[in-house]
Amino acid sequence: MSDTFYTTTAIDYTNGKPHIGHAYEKILADVITRYRKLSGDNAYFLTGVDQHGQKVQQTAEKEGIHPATYVRKTTKNFTNAWNKLQLNYDGWAETTDERHKKCVTDILQKLHDQGQIYKKQYKGFYSIKQEQFLTDKERDEEGNFGPEWGDVEERDEENYYFKLSDHVQWLRNFIETNNDFIIPKFRKADVLNAIERSEDTDLCISRPKERLRWGIELPFDPDFVTFVWFDALINYISFAGYNKSPDSDLPDFDKLWPANLHIIGKDILVPSHSIYWPCMLHAIGFTDQQMPKLLVHGFWNLNSGKVSKSEMTPQQAALMDPVNLVDKFGADAIRYYLVRDIHTGKDSNFDPERLIMLFNTELANNLGNLCNRGLSMTKRFLNGTTAKSEYDDQLSKDLRQQSITTIATYKDAMDRYAISEALEAVIKYITLCNQYTDKQAPWSLAKDDSKTPELTTVLGHLTQVVAIVSVLLKPIIPSACERIQNQLNAPFLEDININNLKWGIIPTDHPLAKPKPVFPRISLEEE
Ligand code: MSP
Repeated sequence: MSDTFYTTTAIDYTNGKPHIGHAYEKILADVITRYRKLSGDNAYFLTGVDQHGQKVQQTAEKEGIHPATYVRKTTKNFTNAWNKLQLNYDGWAETTDERHKKCVTDILQKLHDQGQIYKKQYKGFYSIKQEQFLTDKERDEEGNFGPEWGDVEERDEENYYFKLSDHVQWLRNFIETNNDFIIPKFRKADVLNAIERSEDTDLCISRPKERLRWGIELPFDPDFVTFVWFDALINYISFAGYNKSPDSDLPDFDKLWPANLHIIGKDILVPSHSIYWPCMLHAIGFTDQQMPKLLVHGFWNLNSGKVSKSEMTPQQAALMDPVNLVDKFGADAIRYYLVRDIHTGKDSNFDPERLIMLFNTELANNLGNLCNRGLSMTKRFLNGTTAKSEYDDQLSKDLRQQSITTIATYKDAMDRYAISEALEAVIKYITLCNQYTDKQAPWSLAKDDSKTPELTTVLGHLTQVVAIVSVLLKPIIPSACERIQNQLNAPFLEDININNLKWGIIPTDHPLAKPKPVFPRISLEEE
């Protein structure tokens, strides 16, 4: 059994509803966790909602309701969408949870006692959109703050600061010497550049209550609440049981940490996850070996523009709504498309027509055809029971050999979080198997009694491939694979360790269940 492997994903804002960009990140985490569990690892998937901050307070005010009522309502939109997408998370993080608030408060007090947090007067420009003070480094070439900062106003106020500058030297050295801290590696340069720029800046971690009430109160000054990022980042350890009280039902921290991967989008790598967070952990007392790793994914864009709620037309918003999409196409189709058509780390363009096309060609036609042929023909020609193989030929040998290569390629890609590569290998194998079927033509073999050994071999081979593929694809399209495994009458495939997956997994004389089409084609005309 390998080490515990722990997956967390960035938690979402509660500004209404999730869009497909959010959904992609959770599906990616879900696929990785399901795969790790299939590999016998003790994986744990944590996700949740980031419920504090100015944006939440402002939107609640606009709607004339209390922020607590507002976040209860919007949190439901997220849990509903995640359930529809069949996300199997093990832990759920809500930052208004008392257990989280206690963990944040204890950390703030500890850092304050250690002199890592201090108070100072500061006059500067503040971005309401990003909820942070800006410095001259954020100005563009013309000396202005660009549109990414939204409305910027000048503020002169006292606040509390975390001594980020005490840890920057350590951070630079840590990042330079730990090549696998940021995955993919090409993002490392952005982080090192950002460190150069933030070297002498401390982090403002408070907001005066007269401006923001909706946050965690500072334990050493009740006139202030905690900056939303300082609060939210701590979810990764608070909900993993860090410093939990003895009667808490949270997991045991030592079991989940340090083997930990945070899955985040490229927009929140710098500065929050690659600068603030490791420096906060370092200040709290985490060692280099206890630092998490960051898996940084790219963005789903709409017509090559960023998916952003505020800039979408209502039609586009409906199109990007994962709940609408699941209701229309089913969870498997969405899950498949979102990890199939993006290379982890890169961007991709969201295109519903391509979603339909990929579903129809790769799942309904290719995989659907393989299942239909393998299972229906076994039912029709062999009474629904697999038979001993008494014949062999080069094509069958190649198909068996190719199963070994496919499983190895799939595992190698999944271990590198390259889901689309893993899928390509499986799809290629399914195509090969369909070509094998065309060449062997079991429907003709069935007409000639003297060809029974050939027929049982070919159908036996198809059954083995269907079983192998149903295990490999299960982390990505769990419900379709469950249906396939039910038709194979193979409950033993449900908790198989992927390292034991091999040719012969379906025994001889094994009765199959009733075959039914697994993937109804999505019709374009209906769209
Ligand atoms: N609440 C913060 C995260 C706090 S983590 C301690 C946040 N929320 S967010 O809703 O803006 O984004 C949540 C995640 O979704 C982020 O990792 C972000 O990168 C990701 N995505 C947001 N839009 C996306 C796309 N269009 N495509 C892919 N992922 C995207 O940041």
